Amino acid sequence: MADLFSAYTLKGVTLRNRIGMSPMTMFQSTDGLMDDFHLMYLGARASGGFGLVFPEQVAITPEGRSSVACAGIYDDSQIPGLARVASMITKMGAVPALQLGHTGRKGSGVPPFTDDRSGRIQYQLAPDHPDGWECVSPSAVPYGGKYNYPVHELSKAEIQGLYRAYARAAERALEAGFQWLEMHFAHGYLGASFFSPLSNHRTDEYGGSVENRSRFLIEALDAVREVWPERFPLTVRLGCDDHNPEGIHFDDALTTICAMKQHGLDLADISLGLNTDDIQNPPFNEVGFMVERAARIKREMQVPVATSWNLGAPQYADQLIREGSIDVVLLGRPALANPHWPVWAARELGYADPFSLLPQDWGWCLSNYRGHGSSIGWPEVVATARP
Ligand SMILES: Cc1cc2nc3c(=O)[nH]c(=O)nc-3n(C[C@H](O)[C@H](O)[C@H](O)COP(=O)(O)O)c2cc1C
Repeated sequence: MADLFSAYTLKGVTLRNRIGMSPMTMFQSTDGLMDDFHLMYLGARASGGFGLVFPEQVAITPEGRSSVACAGIYDDSQIPGLARVASMITKMGAVPALQLGHTGRKGSGVPPFTDDRSGRIQYQLAPDHPDGWECVSPSAVPYGGKYNYPVHELSKAEIQGLYRAYARAAERALEAGFQWLEMHFAHGYLGASFFSPLSNHRTDEYGGSVENRSRFLIEALDAVREVWPERFPLTVRLGCDDHNPEGIHFDDALTTICAMKQHGLDLADISLGLNTDDIQNPPFNEVGFMVERAARIKREMQVPVATSWNLGAPQYADQLIREGSIDVVLLGRPALANPHWPVWAARELGYADPFSLLPQDWGWCLSNYRGHGSSIGWPEVVATARP
């Protein structure tokens, strides 16, 4: 039976364990470039034992960023920074993954940590602000609330241009050395807004029925699949529920994942739609609130799945793999809080040799020069070792 620390093979790629670091936007880039900050931050999680490491969502066009401080993959000048990161992740024994995104009507923003929760801070800058731009969307419907500037409705020609941008971004990701590619169609960004009736009011073949609302997502997937090698996984992060009666319903996601499977989808990363602030019965405090939906997709569509959201308790994460509910556990905030989460979890679970999760040289030292007891930097293990 597989557990959290079992290897996992998808296509031609093998993860050393089932623990992935979920993408997290850090607002630390200039001109969309990754630099020493990203090398330090992502290298630390790879050397901390994660099997799969995602940098933040990288934008396929400049307007696809959340803010001017976000990373991109829309220009060849961004390849060397990405390549440094991919190389370090690989060197530390993890698989480098990349999430391609376009923020759609949630772009032209400011970093969320500038929000003092007083309600005075706008997330979005006006289109004529030096650091702002006009956002694009399936329909000219602003998100509302903190993102309320008018948005431009994409023409069909512009949609075709975005497919070319996706494909070119995938080629750059390959050149940079990434081995796992995810397309971000969740969290109220462009793919999610095509999928949701809340944001997609189109009357052409891109709007209306679930088949039409998923057309942009599937055609973008086709464009990437054409250039992304079969030996490497191509995955989608799908917002499968808006928690609003007018928005995406889970049945829409089942239909779309089924269609995506025919178009070369290798794994579904299941998340929220987040196409509105009007979320009814917000689940954010519930442990593992996406797991049941992810497990249904795995069971009913026979598609491998990963998910995140409140999975940071080791016993629970391990149980999800043991019972076969999901294939990979993705951690966001726990990875931010503890770069050595996999080692910590292994010790909590009584795994026989937690330091074997670290890069070979210092893992070897820690495993072979014990005798330091609690002075080694971790509390002494009291649990009975499990093979
Ligand atoms: C600071 C921060 C930035 C995030 N940025 C992204 C992102 O770029 N792409 C994405 O798909 N999800 C993003 N997320 C969501 C996380 O990937 C993850 O799904 C979420 O935090 C829930 O997992 P957790 O409970 O383990 O934190 C972000 C989350 C945080 C906390």
